[in-house]
Amino acid sequence: MKIIRSPEEMQQEALLLRGNGRTIGLVPTMGYLHEGHLSLIRLARERANAVVVSIFVNPTQFAPNEDLTRYPRDFVRDEALCQSQGADMVFYPTATDMYLPDHSVYVVEESLTSGLCGASRPTHFRGVATVVAKLFNLALPQVAVFGEKDAQQLRVIKRMVRDLNFPVSIVPGPIVREPDGLAMSSRNVFLSTEERAQALCLRRALDRAEELFRQGERKTAELLRNMQEVMAQCPAARIDYIECVDDESLKPVTEIGKPCLIAMAVFVGKTRLIDNTVLRAP
Ligand code: PAJ
Repeated sequence: MKIIRSPEEMQQEALLLRGNGRTIGLVPTMGYLHEGHLSLIRLARERANAVVVSIFVNPTQFAPNEDLTRYPRDFVRDEALCQSQGADMVFYPTATDMYLPDHSVYVVEESLTSGLCGASRPTHFRGVATVVAKLFNLALPQVAVFGEKDAQQLRVIKRMVRDLNFPVSIVPGPIVREPDGLAMSSRNVFLSTEERAQALCLRRALDRAEELFRQGERKTAELLRNMQEVMAQCPAARIDYIECVDDESLKPVTEIGKPCLIAMAVFVGKTRLIDNTVLRAP
């Protein structure tokens, strides 16, 4: 497994692979890898015969008040995990190599990013779309894998690929959870024992909504009221948002007909956790 630090070298290696007829699968990450990331690497392996994992804590997707400097990092461990999953290359650039001091071009999605995480983190998706566009231009993948855990991100990347004609097929990977239901996240390491216990309320609230939906409830106000009731049992949890939106447009829905995304972001102590589910009528 090759470790590549320079963006220019990444692009050269990708061109070589392409020249040799290989299919490149890219898994973009910010590192501190867990089973959620590893499941994406395995998906990439199934679809491509050269797998590149990028590890880059991307500064442009963090607001000044967010946890960029505190974000957990452990490259030695990440490297071993990538190797164990059969990755061919790890692209591990520095922020100064990725962004020159006078960097001035960004990718902005103007519809799907107005609500949900885009409302609470106004510059976040500009940073995500920009770095993913750069990673596509450097690793030249035919296939790129993104987790459904970041539901809005996945939809924004698909839209970017569609609207800017990137020749990349986007493969979604299902949410990987801890045995008790908490969605895996690099940020879970910040949770104290008490907060870790209270963090289960996200999954419980989604369970409640799914259950009511199965029983025939289609009014989102009723689903949201029940979810808030579950959340109220966890005093350490402060809701950033819980919303029912159309799975395609990400606009709020009042009565569920088409597939509906329930997305939530919740602060448990200082840690912001996200989770989601898609409701589809049978
Ligand atoms: P990061 O949070 O490291 O996540 C990398 C990829 O892993 C994303 O596609 C994310 O959706 C996926 N992922 C995270 N937790 C998961 C879980 N529990 N189950 C399944 N997939 C999971 O998302 C980012 O990094 C960045 O925004 C990035 C796309 C790399 C751009 O900087």
